[in-house]
Amino acid sequence: MEITMRGLNIWVVMSLLIIGTMLLSRCVHTGHQENEDPRGEGYAMEKTCINCHRQTAGSYMHTVHYNTSSAVGAATLEKLVASLRDQFYFLDSSYIRVQKDKDGLYQYHFKQGVNTFSARLDIAFGSGEKAQTYGYWKDSVLHQLPLSWFTGTHTWANSPGFSPQHARFDRVIVSRCFECHASYIKKEVVQSGPLSVTEHLDKSSIVYGIGCQRCHGPAQQHVQFHQDNPLVKTARYMVSIKTLTRQQQLDICAVCHSGNDQEVRRTLFDFVPGDTLSHFFFPDFGAGRRDPDVHGKQVQLLQTSRCYQRTNMTCTTCHDPHASENIRMEVFIARCMDCHAEVKHTGVKLANSSCIDCHMPLQTSKLIHFTRTDRRFVVRRTDIRSFRKTDYIFQKIRFPDTTGAELKDIPYLIRTHKIAIYK
Ligand code: HEC
Ligand code: HEC
Ligand code: HEC
Ligand code: HEC
Ligand code: HEC
Ligand code: HEC
Ligand code: HEC
Repeated sequence: MEITMRGLNIWVVMSLLIIGTMLLSRCVHTGHQENEDPRGEGYAMEKTCINCHRQTAGSYMHTVHYNTSSAVGAATLEKLVASLRDQFYFLDSSYIRVQKDKDGLYQYHFKQGVNTFSARLDIAFGSGEKAQTYGYWKDSVLHQLPLSWFTGTHTWANSPGFSPQHARFDRVIVSRCFECHASYIKKEVVQSGPLSVTEHLDKSSIVYGIGCQRCHGPAQQHVQFHQDNPLVKTARYMVSIKTLTRQQQLDICAVCHSGNDQEVRRTLFDFVPGDTLSHFFFPDFGAGRRDPDVHGKQVQLLQTSRCYQRTNMTCTTCHDPHASENIRMEVFIARCMDCHAEVKHTGVKLANSSCIDCHMPLQTSKLIHFTRTDRRFVVRRTDIRSFRKTDYIFQKIRFPDTTGAELKDIPYLIRTHKIAIYK
């Protein structure tokens, strides 16, 4: 009896100890991390939002915004490994092979059969909905890798703006990419010559993806207040976007959806809802004269539409900022019908096309385009027969024709936001 009691006591004491340690370590853990958000004290840890906004945050995690940048990890690798065999040829006959090594995925450059350079995929830009491009670190400078992943064709392609002539590994990725594709990175501008400066990026400060606070602003006070006052059901210390002016609402999206050709005077990471975006740019005297590109210029394109000019529409009239866009077209068509229920077409047969096909057609970007070079091949018949279908391409690559590579353009198609009549 005594023994059992003592045994029990020991269990109770041990359990209490374990629970105690767990609680303690949790407090220390979260306490430590809370001070750790690289953006500073005003910001809460992104993952605290889910405690009170479960549905919104749960659905948001599947959006392209949330996944638009990441450290290259297991998930990325799994997707890319499928095409490891793919070799990409440049017009100078050198080629790049993507290869998996112990500590990650690498792009290896071969010149006349000799490996001359290699670099690891460290950071991915783009959710991969359409494309993904990669950066590798060289100390505190990030460089772009020559090959990007092009989802449409499930192949590697020459990164946009790179010459198909030869591979290059020296293009620097500046903090500006992060301003539209991430929530934060700390940078230091260092004088690197009499007339030149270099940006040094702090890789430990990166907040990947577009988090809640990128659109809603720093929320630590909001979180603290609602944690302390669970009975209060109306939001405190948080801007209500719905009550902002139309321009202010539009600006929240325009931070990243009005193009990259204006000179930035203040970091866009500081933009909070209610701010005026034009205060972040130097005056743009050429604005309005240019023909906006379909890539990145949704705001300017929408503004040229009569739908926009004759109503109070904003981006959220059609888009739910917290839900994945992998929804059916019907949802968008329903938005058109909210205003155009009466529309009658006399001059056209609608057939199987939707409103979107005809009035917001896909258009080729003039700014972004990928190229793919394909080797011409001489293939020996006996070799083909002895290989499985998947090895066929591999085999073809092994017997390159002496006439060199063929250059192919891969058009980059984006939905225009100039809603209009196209014939
Ligand atoms: C302890 C609970 C709690 C946490 C944590 C929390 N919120 Fe809230 N939040 C609320 C409550 C309560 C409201 C008011 C009711 C509602 O709109 O859901 C609210 C409302 C909001 C609103 C709507 C404001 C309006 O008036 O339109 C936004 C935006 C918001 N929260 C953002 C965030 C973000 C971003 C985070 C994470 C950094 C976060 N919240 C974390 C409790 C919380
Ligand atoms: C911090 C920059 C940023 C802000 C702010 C931002 N976006 Fe985006 N948005 C992006 C980037 C980057 C992508 C491309 C994501 C990808 O696929 O990698 C994108 C993609 C999208 C897409 C395509 C979705 C899909 O499934 O293909 C829509 C729609 C969109 N944004 C709407 C909005 C709206 C509406 C707002 C304002 C409420 C907004 N965005 C604010 C950067 C931003
Ligand atoms: C791309 C920008 C963007 C991001 C990222 C974003 N929101 Fe929002 N959020 C908005 C906009 C715009 C509105 C106003 C919607 C409207 O006008 O109907 C809004 C409204 C809200 C509201 C008010 C209620 C509602 O649903 O309309 C809450 C709560 C909220 N957001 C929470 C969050 C949380 C939590 C996250 C992260 C998981 C988040 N938001 C991420 C743009 C964003
Ligand atoms: C001004 C904001 C902005 C800047 C700066 C910017 N992007 Fe983007 N990027 C976008 C938007 C918005 C989209 C998606 C919508 C579109 O193409 O119009 C996008 C799309 C992409 C995509 C395709 C994502 C997909 O799967 O759909 C990649 C890859 C990408 N950007 C890489 C980069 C890199 C690398 C840089 C820096 C050299 C960069 N971007 C700079 C706004 C920006
Ligand atoms: C908030 C209301 C609203 C929504 C939503 C809306 N429109 Fe419109 N649209 C209008 C108004 C108002 C006009 C101008 C009518 C006029 O001038 O007689 C217009 C004009 C048009 C025109 C004529 C354009 C021209 O240049 O003559 C087309 C085509 C059109 N809309 C298609 C669409 C499609 C497709 C959608 C859905 C993707 C849509 N609209 C969504 C309100 C809206
Ligand atoms: C009248 C409805 C409507 C409005 C308003 C609207 N969009 Fe869209 N948007 C669409 C439709 C429809 C698509 C195509 C969706 C698809 O193809 O799955 C789209 C697609 C997009 C895409 C992805 C483009 C691509 O091809 O990858 C982006 C980015 C985007 N919208 C941003 C915005 C922004 C930013 C605003 C505000 C300036 C806005 N949209 C306003 C209807 C609208
Ligand atoms: C096959 C292509 C096609 C489809 C699909 C289509 N439209 Fe049109 N739409 C046109 C053309 C072309 C016109 C010019 C007028 C005409 O020929 O009837 C037009 C005209 C319009 C106008 C202007 C009418 C006016 O009175 O000024 C609106 C608004 C409109 N369409 C909305 C829509 C909506 C909403 C849908 C989806 C339900 C849709 N359209 C589907 C091709 C199309």
